[in-house]
Amino acid sequence: MTDRQKKTTESLEEISSGNFSSALLAEALLFREDEQQALFSLARERRTSAFPLEEVEARSVIEISNVCQQSCNYCSMHKDGALKPYVIKEHDVLDMAEFLYSKGRRVFLLQSGENRSKAFVEYVVRCVSGIKSKHPDSEIILCLGNLSREQYLCLKEAGAARYVLKFESSSAELYHEWKPSDTMDQRLACLNDLIDLGFKVGTGNMIGLPGQSLGNIVEDLLLVDRLDVSMMSSTVFIPNEGCNYCDRSMGDVDLVFNMMALMRIMNPGCLMPTTSCLEKARKDGQLIGLMAGANTVTIHDGTPENFRELFPIYSSDRCTPGQERMYNLVQRAGLKLGPSPLI
Ligand code: 5AD
Repeated sequence: MTDRQKKTTESLEEISSGNFSSALLAEALLFREDEQQALFSLARERRTSAFPLEEVEARSVIEISNVCQQSCNYCSMHKDGALKPYVIKEHDVLDMAEFLYSKGRRVFLLQSGENRSKAFVEYVVRCVSGIKSKHPDSEIILCLGNLSREQYLCLKEAGAARYVLKFESSSAELYHEWKPSDTMDQRLACLNDLIDLGFKVGTGNMIGLPGQSLGNIVEDLLLVDRLDVSMMSSTVFIPNEGCNYCDRSMGDVDLVFNMMALMRIMNPGCLMPTTSCLEKARKDGQLIGLMAGANTVTIHDGTPENFRELFPIYSSDRCTPGQERMYNLVQRAGLKLGPSPLI
């Protein structure tokens, strides 16, 4: 064994025994090749101990609207963007949920730009209660950005069980640089409201945006750990055509894989998606995400075809994998795709 291999084995043993010091996390984020494989293997072990049935949660996303009041530099759906605005009609959302339910899907993710208008939130409340009253056994996840505590409460009372609100970066400076129309304090206040109201909350970061250091990513890992959340995710920055950061380079996807593995090791029982931006960054990226410890996949069969190009999250030429591709992917990872909520 070389000195380096010895050091890696020792560091992994430390991490495995629960030592999550900043120095160890920074070292593990940089693991590549065999070292990275050993990290992934520990992450999979932890996933199996928490989810012995080796199941992956399948969710369908319905991108209900692209209207956004924020102007994030990494996103082309910002408020002054060139995209034609849309909101899918309430009865079309309900019909779509009906169709997906009949195909066996039980977890629905309703996603939109950030729109705090009273009319929009009331519309989402009607969509959520419409789906829940017809199908009480369905699980609804919302990803709608920063809203008021009262609005979150209405959505919760309508039947939404989970909410995804990423903190994007644990650095207040970077947060404001990437999202000039928002502040970290505001974001954390929203996260605290969601947790306090009893949502199962998802959060996480993005990797590879301008100004971010390895130390920032270590702080992101520690922040995820401090927050009382049950879902966590990391995405790799994709410089989308219509966004202000379109000329920047793509993030380092290996850092994302390692961050995912570390989140799994630190929180074995969490839900973690293997996102489509991983596939955009590297061939078989979503498979690698599952090998690094992910256990949820989003199936892009809920947004009607004519709206898809108007919701260019990550990229206008993004991948929107359908059911068959996802079943295949999960099978290749030696896992099983289940329709039921895992938490
Ligand atoms: N690259 C990577 N991640 C992105 N997100 C949005 N745009 C990008 C991009 N260009 C992530 C953010 C957001 C989530 C919905 O998608 O983390 O919270």
